[in-house]
Amino acid sequence: MRKKIIAGNWKMNLDIDAANKLYSEGLSIWPETSEDTAVMIFPPSIYLQDFIQRNNGRFEIGAQNLSPYENGAYTGEISASQLKSIGCTMVLVGHSERRILYEEHEEVLKQKIESALKHGLKVIYCCGESLTEREELRHMSKIQNQLALLKEFSINEIKSISIAYEPIWAIGTGKTASPEQASEMHDFIRKELTNLFGSEIANTTSVLYGGSCSPTNANALFKCENIDGGLIGGAALDAHSFLSIIEALE
Ligand code: 13P
Repeated sequence: MRKKIIAGNWKMNLDIDAANKLYSEGLSIWPETSEDTAVMIFPPSIYLQDFIQRNNGRFEIGAQNLSPYENGAYTGEISASQLKSIGCTMVLVGHSERRILYEEHEEVLKQKIESALKHGLKVIYCCGESLTEREELRHMSKIQNQLALLKEFSINEIKSISIAYEPIWAIGTGKTASPEQASEMHDFIRKELTNLFGSEIANTTSVLYGGSCSPTNANALFKCENIDGGLIGGAALDAHSFLSIIEALE
């Protein structure tokens, strides 16, 4: 069975008081990660260590980014081994905001995934097309190309990777993909995973939807056969909204 996952990407939001308030509320109302369903949060990295210490294994706590390098003179960067050493379990790689704003291309994404896996971090690998690519009917080939990067990894390594499909035009815009649009792409991703790695991996890899997912639309999206949960931005910044999205999985 595939694990269901609800992950909150806090991005560069919330100063310490607001972050603590949200996290404390979350600790009291969000359900613990269970065998079937994982609850994950990706807070800004300055809060990771404190949150992990207060977490008692209730949720998975991950980083929004990592360095592609092992260690050394890389001012401002955080390595996979440093993340691992504070108890971090997960990392996001390939988010469109990093691909676009920080020009992270295939080679660097590959190095980031390699470093994460080497140090025992699980990865959520994000992919997604722009509005223009969709309008020009290039959305499937865009995702196919982004997924092709994963060919660099062994079957065993792929077991530590989940996928998040986040259409760029739906991120932070309030324009979520319709269940039909999301479902079509998730079916395609499942097929691609089968082509690349065989049906066993394809059937056990969680594929999340992200992009203006909210308490209002989550249930319809999560009913789609190949959508295994969500990577949530804005709605993860409110403890009750995030809870409603977790509950929409069931
Ligand atoms: P929103 O839910 O704010 O659209 O963000 C989605 C996202 O980018 C999560 O990584």
